[in-house]
Amino acid sequence: MLIRVFQETDTEAVSALWREVFPNNPRHSQPAQIIRLKLAAQRELFFVAESGGAVVGTIMAGYDGHRGWLYAVAVSPRHQRQGIGGALVRHAEAALAALGCPKINLQVRTANAGVVAFYRSLGYAVEELISMGKLLAPPTE
Ligand SMILES: CC(C)(COP(=O)(O)OP(=O)(O)OC[C@H]1O[C@@H](n2cnc3c(N)ncnc32)[C@H](O)[C@@H]1OP(=O)(O)O)[C@@H](O)C(=O)NCCC(=O)NCCS
Repeated sequence: MLIRVFQETDTEAVSALWREVFPNNPRHSQPAQIIRLKLAAQRELFFVAESGGAVVGTIMAGYDGHRGWLYAVAVSPRHQRQGIGGALVRHAEAALAALGCPKINLQVRTANAGVVAFYRSLGYAVEELISMGKLLAPPTE
């Protein structure tokens, strides 16, 4: 298993993976839109896990000068519980640390609370915060 930076040629495989593991994502979180925007902002923090020549996992990270964030942490169901998700998170952590990032945040959908055990196993703790959001622009695709 190899972790490397996303390349445009991964677009179809990554989109198929996200559609499979995030079937309920809202319209503003469609794969093509996410990928297009990420390639324009810190694209070097968008990683895929490759196994046998196929994309089997993804993670996107970002650093805004205050906190690092993790998004799109996903492993193909056929490759889960083999340590790939953990390896992706540690890889992104190292990339953020190298930028001087002091702390990482991430969000988990309430309906996906089972995944908290995964992040706890990697040293993340639940913080008593209310998560809020606001769409700045309508989806363009
Ligand atoms: C969450 C996810 C990325 C984990 O990937 P993974 O490759 O299976 O994770 P790992 O094999 O590295 O797991 C490391 C540890 O996390 C914990 N863990 C992982 N998945 C878990 C689950 N479903 N329930 C409870 N604990 C879990 C275990 O302690 C595991 O160690 P173990 O297998 O030795 O018991 C993967 O399940 C996934 O893609 N889920 C769907 C998408 C998703 O919900 N992403 C998170 C969005 S916030």
